[in-house]
Amino acid sequence: MKNLEAALHLRGETRFVDDLPEPEGTLYAAVFVSPVAHGRIRRLDTREASGRPGVRAVLTARDIPGENQIGTIQPDEPLLAETEVHFAGQPVALVVADSPGAARAAAGAVRLEIHALPAVFDPREAYEKGLLIVPPRSFVLGDVEAAWGGCDCIVEGTVESGAQEHLYLETQAALAVPGEHRSMRVVSATQSPTGVQRAIARVLGVGMHAVHVEVERLGGAFGGKEDQATPWAALAALGAVHLRRPVKLVLRRQEDMRFTGKRHPYVSDFRLGLKSSGEILAYEVTFFQNAGAAADLSPSILERSLFHATGSYFVPNLKATGISARTHLPPNTAFRGFGAPQAMLVIEGAITRAARALGIPPEVIQEKNLLREGDGFPYGMAARGCRARRCWQEAIDRYALEGRRRRVEEFNRTHALQKKGLALMPVCFGISFTNTTLNQGGALVHVYTDGSVVVSTGGVEMGQGVKTKIHAVAARVFPIEPALIRVESTSTLRVANTSPTAASTGTDLNGKAAELACRAILERLREVAGAELEARSAGQTGGGNTAPADIEIAEGRVTRKGTPTDLTWRSLVAAAYTRRVSLSAQAHYATPGIWYDRRREKGEPFAYHVYGTALSEVTVDCLRGTYEIDGVWAVHDLGPSLDLLVDRGQAEGGIVQGIGWLTLEEVLYAKDGRLMSRDLSTYKVPDLHFAPRELEVHFLDDVPNPQGVFNAKAIGEPPFMYAIGTCYALFRAMQAFRPDLELPLITPLTPERVLTSLYPERLRELEQAADSASNSAVPASGSAAPAPAAAGTATRAGCRTRGVAAAGTP
Ligand code: MTE
Ligand code: MOS
Repeated sequence: MKNLEAALHLRGETRFVDDLPEPEGTLYAAVFVSPVAHGRIRRLDTREASGRPGVRAVLTARDIPGENQIGTIQPDEPLLAETEVHFAGQPVALVVADSPGAARAAAGAVRLEIHALPAVFDPREAYEKGLLIVPPRSFVLGDVEAAWGGCDCIVEGTVESGAQEHLYLETQAALAVPGEHRSMRVVSATQSPTGVQRAIARVLGVGMHAVHVEVERLGGAFGGKEDQATPWAALAALGAVHLRRPVKLVLRRQEDMRFTGKRHPYVSDFRLGLKSSGEILAYEVTFFQNAGAAADLSPSILERSLFHATGSYFVPNLKATGISARTHLPPNTAFRGFGAPQAMLVIEGAITRAARALGIPPEVIQEKNLLREGDGFPYGMAARGCRARRCWQEAIDRYALEGRRRRVEEFNRTHALQKKGLALMPVCFGISFTNTTLNQGGALVHVYTDGSVVVSTGGVEMGQGVKTKIHAVAARVFPIEPALIRVESTSTLRVANTSPTAASTGTDLNGKAAELACRAILERLREVAGAELEARSAGQTGGGNTAPADIEIAEGRVTRKGTPTDLTWRSLVAAAYTRRVSLSAQAHYATPGIWYDRRREKGEPFAYHVYGTALSEVTVDCLRGTYEIDGVWAVHDLGPSLDLLVDRGQAEGGIVQGIGWLTLEEVLYAKDGRLMSRDLSTYKVPDLHFAPRELEVHFLDDVPNPQGVFNAKAIGEPPFMYAIGTCYALFRAMQAFRPDLELPLITPLTPERVLTSLYPERLRELEQAADSASNSAVPASGSAAPAPAAAGTATRAGCRTRGVAAAGTP
């Protein structure tokens, strides 16, 4: 089946927050933000802004009736800055006006005097200065120190990975409508309706029962609306409470890019020790996570990096340390994979280095160390139903690795300036929130007297198809035409205390809850059917007793002991109503068997793992640094799909999004911490032409997963990480051109970086020339002489990056 919303999207009829009919009297909000990365507020003057035409209010921290705090994990995030600002783009004041234009114009008239303070953008530097979000945390298995001695080869290095902009199509948005008795109804583009509800209650100083949050769907989220939809909803509510009018706040694209956090850039130091056979004996890794200015979800994201530090491999001796560094960037946040992609990129980089050192193909190392059934993860859980090796072997066979390798070698022999590269990427991803508490879902199901059904759950639709899958679940339990079933919006009134729709668990948690609720109603209906048939046959001869077990409801009709009766779904539902039997059910699902002990860093944190292997092939133009992705072919452990088209879309979309992160997408901050890549002319995402020319995902459908809904596995995030293989295929192609070089392990591998990596000598020459030129000719103050392009230095989310455009001013 197609995603239930596909037709709406195609016809342009889907309504997002900004498309909703506006209640009478709606006002519009705009946000004034800090122009600097770090500073003390000397004076905040809103008088001029308040006097602008159409302005109804300019609100600051002082106008917050409750607590000026929206931090989820830690209380370190004020809604509006009070005494200090900690990143460029931090909200300082809220302007509410008669039109969005008037609000923005007035926001431009807010005056802020700031005493600038030194800012830190590099996570290593922040660590050295003791600027941490949480204390460092380590996962340990075996004894790395003792293991180094037994290694034939030890490689060390650093992997840097860049940030990633979520670029959801619908920007952050909320509409807050004040109600009676200090209540507030908020339509928010959030993955976490309860999170928004909680934050608004806190900010307004009211109980959560006074705040109703509703979400129809999101125009994409990718983790960017798990925590970061909250401030905008809370600001809209703040405006609404002051003015007693509905207030809408919708960020523009540039604002959204400048104000919100991204995928965390990481700088990671590794050390990998192996036998000459390629067997891994020890791995030590330290992740420096660039968290930005507030905790947001960073500690949880770092935790997942630790969980996935060893990727798909069994590593007998491990020490993985995570450092969450507080810097002066917008708080970085959840993004598909949630810290796992950053970690897996490192171990694959280490393997790439080790393969070069040992003179063996990386696949030999990968294959030798792949997880086997029963292998222990460093966090104490054992690999059960482990399909790492099956996926690996099937990918090799199905996509004819040997033949492809020969063709690539032949190509590379016969082409001087173009090189091809191949890489395999095994993925193992744990399903469950690593915060055990969050692994619960809820559903509310109503059957109406005409037989139609409405299902509400805590799952938020963001394009991933959770509604389509919940629909499929209800349609499997209720033996009726699918058209009789509707999946409703997500509302904190219908399903309370929801977990964010995240960690790929949306369908697992909410689908299971929906299944339980539907089954509860069906069970009641079976009893009603028994009683009804009993009553009907009581007057006739031959009427026997009808146990509910004899009753079956299939294809919209009731059968008794296999014989069709005249009871239809509809008449049965009507009979239940007449007999005063409830046609509604609420259900709650909590993933069984999971636990985690943070003191020992051991437990059973995941319900199960998803496995898979992808093969990537690329061609690099080593004269220009440009490249093409010839293909990505994957074998993916899914189980029987609830909806094949949706799952295929998730896998393909995840792969292309992952490729974007590692290739074209480069988040660049100027030296003062202001975002330079802040629209689509400077931030490039993959388009159709850049996507792999061949993209194929083969699902294993013969392996039921009893922990999943109808035996399927979650799919939202795992395929994203296949893109790491595409990245290392690019490395291999580059290595084929420059076998003499130890290439830097830095992503994104933009064409510029490919080129500068391939010709480091030439780059040094250019930089020296530019340095001496700028030393001899210092531009006069006030003249806007552009810096030479090759000499510009920008902060790539904390990493020094050469060869990019000079820091611009907005
Ligand atoms: N697919 C689309 N189209 N849009 C999205 O925003 N988010 C991803 C993934 N797939 C996303 C998506 C992320 S980050 C997660 S965690 C899951 O979907 C969340 O949904 P699920 O739990 O229902 O899989
Ligand atoms: Mo997904 S990053 O867990 O929202």
